[in-house]
Amino acid sequence: MKNKVALVTGGMGGIGTAVCQYLARKGAKVVASYNRGGNHASAKAWQEEQKKLGYDMAINFVDVADFQSCLSMVKNVEADFGSIDILVNNAGIICDVQLCKMDLSQWQTVLRTNLDSIFNVTRNVISGMLSRRYGRIINVSSINGQKGQFGQTNYSSAKAGIHGFTKSLAQEVARKGVTVNTISPGYIETNMVMSVDDKIREKIVAQIPVGRFGKPDEVARAVAFLAAESSGFITGSNLVINGGQYLV
Ligand code: CAA
Ligand code: NAP
Repeated sequence: MKNKVALVTGGMGGIGTAVCQYLARKGAKVVASYNRGGNHASAKAWQEEQKKLGYDMAINFVDVADFQSCLSMVKNVEADFGSIDILVNNAGIICDVQLCKMDLSQWQTVLRTNLDSIFNVTRNVISGMLSRRYGRIINVSSINGQKGQFGQTNYSSAKAGIHGFTKSLAQEVARKGVTVNTISPGYIETNMVMSVDDKIREKIVAQIPVGRFGKPDEVARAVAFLAAESSGFITGSNLVINGGQYLV
């Protein structure tokens, strides 16, 4: 993927940072998009930190839940780099609460950030990929979109929806050199999982046959595999990376 331009949403998060670094090591020009509640100084600090580690990453602000914000981000990246060849739709949030206690905003925020976002970003990227007849789109779903999870009717719905999007778009763009795939990570050691109560986390790890949580780099490897030019015959698939916790 030398000199291919990769846009990674949520690029400064736990999995996102590992993906950005992995793609950069493979030779891609990487743009990490961030939200950080509009804290641009904190995003700059991340960029500086990456520079010290030897990674030259571009950064771009976005609210993935907002279509216009995604349009601006895509325009900026295309103006700066000429194209977007690899798109990793990775941004996401959780807001765990049983349905009987869930309010409308907890439902809508999670659906908008995890599922509408896939439309908001991809819709703005796809025309460029089609006209250049090349693209790799990787959508980050979750084990909990496959198996469901107590307290996650919102998140599981959004994550299950992602794979329907993947399979449909894959069929629409296959003849134009664009592949679209989902990855479904299990529980990975990032702030998202670490925010779950310690006692619940202990119960979760006991359900993972490999005996531990996954590492962000183990997800990044899978993204890089699907993002490679040589993966052109893999499309519409859902790659499971969950330590054996749920087998479909
Ligand atoms: N299955 C069945 N019953 C369960 C249960 C489960 N998994 N979890 C809790 N219950 C039961 C409890 O035993 C309890 O029963 P009693 O009333 O009979 O005592 C009842 O449900 C209420 O439990 P809580 O007190 O825990 O309920 P709560 O409303 O305070 O909290 C919750 C609910 C916030 C969802 C909490 O259970 C929770 O945080 N669960 C973890 C959810 C989870 O795994 N999130 C993953 C986050 S990371 C991620 O999502 C990344 C990814 O993609 C993998
Ligand atoms: P994380 O560290 O919390 O990262 C989430 C990222 O999403 C952050 O970088 C955040 O950006 C970005 N984001 C959230 N809301 C946004 C918005 N409105 N606009 C733009 N960006 C937004 O968690 P993670 O574990 O790396 O999660 C990355 C992805 O993997 C998510 O889609 C998650 O659902 C999925 N996943 C995680 C696990 C796991 O176990 N960790 C398992 C399966 C799937 P800022 O920080 O810049 O705000």
